[in-house]
Amino acid sequence: MNNQLVYLNGEYLPLDQAKVSVLDRGFIFGDGIYEVIPAYAGKTLRFEHHMQRLQRSLDAVRITNPLSNEQWQKIINKLIAATGSQDQSVYLHITRGVAQRDHSFPHKLEHTVFAMSNILQTVSPELLKTGITAITLDDIRWQYCNIKSISLLPNILLRQQAVDKDAAEAILIRNGNVTEGAASNVFVVSNGVIKTPPKDHKILPGITRDLIVELAKEHAMPIEEISISEEEFFTADEIWLTSSTKEVLPVTQINEQQVGDGKPGIIWKNMYQKYQDFKKSLHN
Ligand code: PDD
Repeated sequence: MNNQLVYLNGEYLPLDQAKVSVLDRGFIFGDGIYEVIPAYAGKTLRFEHHMQRLQRSLDAVRITNPLSNEQWQKIINKLIAATGSQDQSVYLHITRGVAQRDHSFPHKLEHTVFAMSNILQTVSPELLKTGITAITLDDIRWQYCNIKSISLLPNILLRQQAVDKDAAEAILIRNGNVTEGAASNVFVVSNGVIKTPPKDHKILPGITRDLIVELAKEHAMPIEEISISEEEFFTADEIWLTSSTKEVLPVTQINEQQVGDGKPGIIWKNMYQKYQDFKKSLHN
């Protein structure tokens, strides 16, 4: 069994010794917040941005951040070093804590804090050549999709429907507009313009999404943060997905139909390279 070092409530211990109470509100209610931060060659990418999003999510559900950014950074550095030199994805998880089961929450609870770092399952070069397959589904989630909540049942059910159809991701549609993927943000390219839905309560404000928007602006690539209708989506020349673990992925098939000419697009290729260059620049 994988017995990596993990962090739980102030202690570093092997994974098989990390235990939480069955009364933990994370277990009972899914009452908690999480973050996923990529780390390349030992360095986290956009640590400050992830910390800001973590704080916003915690504030939204009235959980006090149990640690300062410096404390988080120390824990993360230790876990990355223990996991090795490969690229990793750091997982942080805070629940409201342990209490007798009651929907309303006691105010002075000690929060449960868990962190681990896993080797990043990078996207294979073959997949980057062919692109991935996705399906569209109704966005059945709640009204606070901007909160990075550990209650992921809708996302899990949506992703599984995609997997059942041999697709890699479910792209979600709410009231005729594309929102995001079950665990990713969505971009399209139409007539040379890159478009992604604006940040509001209907999507998670992806850190990778923001970086792609920044890179596009920096390199004078036309980009708009604007609603994308279903119609525009299905006639787009390119479709991309972004996330901390998958970076920027081209979607070449949607609902068994080819996207553009069925190959990863030229603008995606350009952006993918810019993203790789940005990663490299962190180590210079
Ligand atoms: N998920 N939208 C949703 C619903 C997500 O779950 C994620 C990431 C994203 C992309 O956000 P970012 O670029 O900050 O990773 C968008 C993570 C990776 C996960 O749940 O494992």
